[in-house]
Amino acid sequence: MADAPLWRARARDSQLTGIVVLISGRGSNMRSLVEHQLPVRAVLSNRADAAGLAFARDRGIPAVALDHRDFASRESFDQALAELIDRYHPEAVILAGFMRILSVGLVRRYEGRLLNIHPSLLPAFPGLDTHARALQAGVKIHGATVHYVTPELDAGPIILQAAVPVRPDDTEASLAARVLAGEHRIFPLAVQWLLDGRLSISEGVVRVAGDPPQWMFNAS
Ligand code: GRF
Repeated sequence: MADAPLWRARARDSQLTGIVVLISGRGSNMRSLVEHQLPVRAVLSNRADAAGLAFARDRGIPAVALDHRDFASRESFDQALAELIDRYHPEAVILAGFMRILSVGLVRRYEGRLLNIHPSLLPAFPGLDTHARALQAGVKIHGATVHYVTPELDAGPIILQAAVPVRPDDTEASLAARVLAGEHRIFPLAVQWLLDGRLSISEGVVRVAGDPPQWMFNAS
């Protein structure tokens, strides 16, 4: 993976600014980024009915749907998506509930400036249905992770994590709500660190300049 300060220097040279956020549905994490004053240049979705698109449009942010079902292959969709992303010249591309697996080509194109939020404490529970699987496994601490995206699903270098307790009476919905509150706190912070050029990666481990805590705990 490209070293973060390196791409940062490249971004400055090439006049890339702000972020493009990719969503597929509700868009509450995208909303949190907007409300924390992150420079969102555009919101893109692979589904025209994604609720988050309306939120972005209401705030004057370009919001565009590109339906993956209109493309014959993952690669052709990803090619069109990349062309759309590049129209906004973003410094970073942020996956906020984007429910599509990216082709290796797309990951490589933005590697080092491509972040995702995942609703578990990675490396536990990669993939789908994380809250149900956490309950089934009987873990007592659960949470969310912001990480760099690499070709292997949910396996890129970890930037920031939010931990929450799992309570005896939790349902999938109550646990998901507690984790989501944590997501809304860590995602803006991690994206800000990236844009500020504070992240570096050494042997797969992310450090933040100034060494702030790379975790949060919310017991409520
Ligand atoms: C979040 O739980 C996120 O971690 C996961 O998908 C969900 C998206 O929620 N990748 P929202 O669309 O941001 O509300």
